Amino acid sequence: MSARLRLIVAAVAALAVLGPLGWFWQRSLVSDSYDMAAMGYPDNGGGPSGHGHGGGLSVADLTGPSGPADVSVTLTARREGHGYTLNHVSPGPEIRARQGQLVEVRLVNESVADGVTLHWHGVDVPNAEDGVAGVTQDAVGRGGSHVYRFVVRDAGTYWYHSHQVGHEQVRLGLFGALVVTPAPPPRAASTPATAASPTAGSPLAVDADPVVAVHTYDGRRTVNGRPQVSSLTAPAGATVRARIINTDAGPIRAWVGGAAYRVVAVDGRDVHGPTPVTDTAVLVTAGGRIDAEFTVPPGGARVEAGAGAALAVGPGPGTPATAQPRATLDLLGYGTPAPLGLDPAKATRNFEYRVDRRPGFLDGRPGLWWTVNGHLFPDLPMFMVATGDVVRMTIANTSGEVHPMHLHGHHAVVLSRNGVAATGSPWWVDSLDVGDGDTYEIAFIADNPGIWVDHCHNLQHATEGLLAHVAYQGVSTPYRVGGAAGNQPE
Ligand code: C2O
Ligand code: CU
Repeated sequence: MSARLRLIVAAVAALAVLGPLGWFWQRSLVSDSYDMAAMGYPDNGGGPSGHGHGGGLSVADLTGPSGPADVSVTLTARREGHGYTLNHVSPGPEIRARQGQLVEVRLVNESVADGVTLHWHGVDVPNAEDGVAGVTQDAVGRGGSHVYRFVVRDAGTYWYHSHQVGHEQVRLGLFGALVVTPAPPPRAASTPATAASPTAGSPLAVDADPVVAVHTYDGRRTVNGRPQVSSLTAPAGATVRARIINTDAGPIRAWVGGAAYRVVAVDGRDVHGPTPVTDTAVLVTAGGRIDAEFTVPPGGARVEAGAGAALAVGPGPGTPATAQPRATLDLLGYGTPAPLGLDPAKATRNFEYRVDRRPGFLDGRPGLWWTVNGHLFPDLPMFMVATGDVVRMTIANTSGEVHPMHLHGHHAVVLSRNGVAATGSPWWVDSLDVGDGDTYEIAFIADNPGIWVDHCHNLQHATEGLLAHVAYQGVSTPYRVGGAAGNQPE
């Protein structure tokens, strides 16, 4: 072969390889500013297609109510030390409200260069209050502020965190706890309104309900920002409800050492008929919450979050540490059944959210990326729904890693795992740990119009393209990912 011929052959071979590669590379590029709601392709889940999006309703109009707030808080975000703080602390201040109250939070960005937002994880807020940069608002730049207003309708344990450059900002401290206590039972007209009743002012029938927010700072697991063991004084016989919140990127196992406990709530929804467990841990998925209730024994008890981080609860110091139990509670069969309030057999949409992994380009970067239903971000399904739909979704994971899947704005009930039907209490979640090889079937009612992200709460994975949406027909967003505000939701 002449040198010239060899060159031509080499060039043709190179083109044959590079041509398609270039095409895939080019196709993967995400423009500097784009409409999240117009990305990917609509998936109607077997339901009517309606008129697509871009219709009459704007995300920006789906705000919380006006009027005087019952709870009002200002949170100022700062770059401090080698992390971020809210009002100079991390975790940020704990917000407490009673069920039915109107909460108003003013977010001020003093010094976070990339901008910030606040997302109310697990609170099914109106869409404009959801805090997702580029989808429900613009990121709040330095010197700016933003007001969130929403009614907390469901008692339970929640948390808030930035949803702008989330994978970095949450890890570095921009989060806090939000607790909604039950409304007092309506008082009968004949009952004198006296404060003498032992439960007055404390409709939660427990003596203490401490938050146990678990977070890893610089490789050190902490409870409420403190490594190792912090303590709460409580007399023997007291009833304590520990509100465990996993703010990390991966699952943790938590347990109560020294006492039997009951898992009384998951993700802000009460468990029906929870029975006591001992020598058993409970998995708390990334983003998820577990309320564990127990009676303080004379020697005290410990709420253990693993890696030595714990909250000791008892009359004195010195509650001994306990080893991590080998058994893990299976919520699929825990508690007793109760009506779901929806009929999965009458589902009007059936979606699949199949997570896998393959080599390809993500915004021009070659790598091994997550796929949804075989597609790479941004070519992902938009799960289209209409208000009132009963939605079923199959979430399957064959990607080799665990994914804590989180749907905004809704709670879904677990119907089955790997073909085994749920038999216990209705297991309502907003964050679901989907292990490698697992398939879950969930159902929810589409009752909160908007455009809702439905993503992996290992936020690094979300930046790697594991982020799709549930979108209501006819709803559009004026916000753009990227753009002048530099919106970068994950
Ligand atoms: Cu806790 Cu999309 O977030
Ligand atoms: Cu993931």
